[in-house]
Amino acid sequence: MDKPSLKTALPGPKAKAIIERDGKVVSPSYTRGYPFVMARGTGAIVEDVDGNQFLDCAAGIAVNSTGHSHPDVVAAIVDQAQKFLHMSGTDFYYEPQVRLGEEFDAIKPFAGPSRSFFSNSGTEAIEAAIKLARYSTKRYGMIAFLGSFHGRTLGALSLTSSKAIQRKGFGPMQAGVFHTPYGNCYRCPVGLKPESCQAECLDFLEHQILVHLISPDEVAGVVVEPIQGEGGYVVPEPKFHQRLRDITKTHGILLIADEVQSGMGRTGKMFGIEHFGVEPDMIAVAKGVASGMPLGVTTARADVMTWPPGSHASTFGGNPVSAAAALATITLIKDSLMKNAAEVGAFMMERLKELQQKHQIIGDVRGRGLMIGIELVRDRVTKERATTERDKLVNECFARGLLVLGAGKNALRISPPLVLTKAQASTAVEILDQALAATNL
Ligand SMILES: Cc1ncc(COP(=O)(O)O)c(C=O)c1O
Repeated sequence: MDKPSLKTALPGPKAKAIIERDGKVVSPSYTRGYPFVMARGTGAIVEDVDGNQFLDCAAGIAVNSTGHSHPDVVAAIVDQAQKFLHMSGTDFYYEPQVRLGEEFDAIKPFAGPSRSFFSNSGTEAIEAAIKLARYSTKRYGMIAFLGSFHGRTLGALSLTSSKAIQRKGFGPMQAGVFHTPYGNCYRCPVGLKPESCQAECLDFLEHQILVHLISPDEVAGVVVEPIQGEGGYVVPEPKFHQRLRDITKTHGILLIADEVQSGMGRTGKMFGIEHFGVEPDMIAVAKGVASGMPLGVTTARADVMTWPPGSHASTFGGNPVSAAAALATITLIKDSLMKNAAEVGAFMMERLKELQQKHQIIGDVRGRGLMIGIELVRDRVTKERATTERDKLVNECFARGLLVLGAGKNALRISPPLVLTKAQASTAVEILDQALAATNL
């Protein structure tokens, strides 16, 4: 199926009733942009509780990498669930966790032997990375980027600087964390052009933070998203990552790539950092790794992950059912989905660039593979952010049967399941076109 099929007004009666119940008992901290109530899904099509079918270009925030309930993943889950559900891989052994460690050793984006720590989410994968960086270097400082998102537990939250609301009321944050501008070329923080710059956006890190605020020999790690996700699907120039690698190498600082959103084939390569010709010392992975089952992975150079028994662990981390789902997911990504993400992503990007010619509000279209951002601006010269317009557009897409999410203040993110077909990609672009026209954006 390539096109959405809407049968009721949105939300339909069953969706309305569930949302009303949710409003009474579920945490009000969740951000729901529109009233979609899931009943079931296959591939890139999802159905709500009233029988309306939508084309899913959100994938549960870039999670359902293999599509909804891929038969191979479901079979792996059922098979493992029938054997055993849990045995705590921190205190006992089981093969799915070992096989997953072997898989990550084979696919990691850096040379040499590695070891993996398993948790349940992106924030925990980052938390482990922070602790490991501190443990291994015996330094305390961490560097992160403005606009970044690394999670919401207190260590990871201290690195997160996407939206102030995410930090408001929870301070003080972890000490020793410093933020520096990201390589956002559409809005260059130092006013230069990507064609001629030397990644001067990193001058602030090298010549201010590491000179005036913290001595480089006290910095344990730099955590960077290869492509900034929640911050607006921002793609830096390769020289940004290359210069960052040089700075970190010079000072013995660990480079940690947060691949939670950009990893696992989404960008057309297994890991986002592979687009930039740089090898990190450590990666943090979650979201798409197990097609929707909870799993976090922190994979580091073996000579970095040397912490002793008892120093870090998680009861549920590396759960056998999640590990089985991850192994099936990785097979599918390697066999076909990474290639599909590259091909369909390139096709979609071209169509979206055509849309940019037609709609003045589209200031920038960027991305790699099926991690595509569309930045909306009120004026292409001043680049004034079209914030309310973005929210309106997301809702107009929903009303036409397309699920998309915002990213940053004024960008729209396209992060579909990696099984998306070209026909479905065309449908998504057509709906976007209609939604932009209908709202006079
Ligand atoms: C780059 C990145 N890191 C970390 C996280 C946190 O992941 P989780 O929500 O699974 O804790 C996210 C979530 O959006 C993310 O995009």
